[in-house]
Amino acid sequence: MIPRKVIALEPYDASQIRQWLKLATQFLDDSLGVITPPKYQTALAHQSVGLLFFEPSTRTRVSFELAAKHLGASTILLNEQGSSMSKGESVMDTCANLAAMGVGAFVMRHKSREIIEQVGAALPTPLLNAGNGNGEHPSQGLLDALTLCAHFHYKAHRAWDYSLQGRTIAIVGDIAHSRVARSDVHVLERLGAQVTLAGPPELLPEVGQPGWGEARRTSSLEDALEGADAVIVLRVQRERLGQLEVDPAQYAQRWRVGQAHLALMKPDAVVLHPGPVIRGEELEAQVADGPKSLILQQVRCGVAVRQALLLSVMGAA
Ligand code: CP
Repeated sequence: MIPRKVIALEPYDASQIRQWLKLATQFLDDSLGVITPPKYQTALAHQSVGLLFFEPSTRTRVSFELAAKHLGASTILLNEQGSSMSKGESVMDTCANLAAMGVGAFVMRHKSREIIEQVGAALPTPLLNAGNGNGEHPSQGLLDALTLCAHFHYKAHRAWDYSLQGRTIAIVGDIAHSRVARSDVHVLERLGAQVTLAGPPELLPEVGQPGWGEARRTSSLEDALEGADAVIVLRVQRERLGQLEVDPAQYAQRWRVGQAHLALMKPDAVVLHPGPVIRGEELEAQVADGPKSLILQQVRCGVAVRQALLLSVMGAA
């Protein structure tokens, strides 16, 4: 059964993940730029997508908006400040009202891990999680996987293959507070990759904590990068640190991924970052802008993945 609500990637097997990725490749041209084939340009005509962003966002919000519009849908952007939520209305009541007006799907980002699950359970409206606290960020996980498949298969062999079998991928930085890392672990492992999580001990999830698959942990950046095919660099997520303090200069000294680190990795290794990049803290600018960086390709793949997800949950794939 095709899912109508995608709140996490953890429940989905490789077959479902490959279906989403395969659909997404229809929205990439030969140069891996974003396109919309004519047959999809009105696929969501007369439908509307509610973009409910209760936390800041650039990439996810704009790419979902573009994705919806490329498919012929209209979009409604709602956040707390400009809506009746500022008068005390709940997220649930807000969503129920939008659904009653005929909004056809919700894309939601919220600092709470649970509220998106509650809305999904209460309302029949198709729902895409655009980031829930330190829970998951499913569309980011899929776009990271698509970016890697595009690099290792399509760019290398001009043929799509949705496998990362035999690849070792390091995720480096503030893992414990990252919804991107959680979704990445699920999708990368489903596609056959071995994942290493690396960060300072206080920013790593405890061994045995559920939701982290089979991923290896290390508190050595060099150990994580040695022989890796790709590194996904994460920023310190200060909005979710609570009482924990991370000194930016000390962090950068020990954990910033720089040009010298790339020599530890495989010769064709690549660098990803979900954004926003805090240049100089977790990543050297020369690496972010260098030939091994796929950061802007991730953004292009993001529009394609979000087109696929909207089509899929809205029953138009
Ligand atoms: N990667 C990501 O979620 O970026 P935004 O916060 O800008 O959406």
